[in-house]
Amino acid sequence: MRGRLISVEGLDGTGKTTVCAALAARLEDAGVRVLRLREPGGTAVGEQIRGLLADPSRTLEPRTELLLFAAARAELVDTVVRPALDEGTWVLLDRFVDSTLAYQGAGRELGDDTAGAANAIATGGLLPDRTLLLLAPAAVRAGRMDHRGEAADRLEQAGEAMFARTEARYEQLLTEAPERVRAVDASGEPDDVVRLAWDATADLLEAAATSG
Ligand code: TMP
Repeated sequence: MRGRLISVEGLDGTGKTTVCAALAARLEDAGVRVLRLREPGGTAVGEQIRGLLADPSRTLEPRTELLLFAAARAELVDTVVRPALDEGTWVLLDRFVDSTLAYQGAGRELGDDTAGAANAIATGGLLPDRTLLLLAPAAVRAGRMDHRGEAADRLEQAGEAMFARTEARYEQLLTEAPERVRAVDASGEPDDVVRLAWDATADLLEAAATSG
């Protein structure tokens, strides 16, 4: 049976990495084979592209940025994600196509059509079975990022207005694709966020068990 594709989305500081790690562990406990990946990345070329995109000493045109994300995604989808799903492995993605709609389409103001076209080329139409959208107030996100103590990368240096547009586009997904995209309140303690994320995923596991 084909594996399931789950993506975890949200602004930086919403706790995506923690949620991905915990969900992967819980799915494995439930007997599911899981592959956890991050975007951009997950392949040798994807990790190199990630370095280019993050480098604070570079400036990139918005369309260049869009196409670099798309290139990393195409490589990941073709060489890792599709083969894994085909062999029945569940794939847990820390960011996927909705990041491009939110950050490049809305944040960088390239528009849905342009961002969607890049996504279509990169994925051939592959969409997640479930997307968890982690939502937390700006103060909570900023606190978590300060706590990490890392210097801001090129993408994190964008202004507040860009992140406001990105967040608004993310939230629009909840009404556009309510079956696929579920909001997860990510403002609480990690255990609480993980519990809510699990609750928003568990039906996939139940459905997979029922269909054998
Ligand atoms: P992260 O791994 O810390 O979430 O960093 C990835 C960065 O890349 C983050 O700032 C969001 C950004 N990003 C986009 O702008 N568009 C995309 O399509 C993806 C996958 C990530």
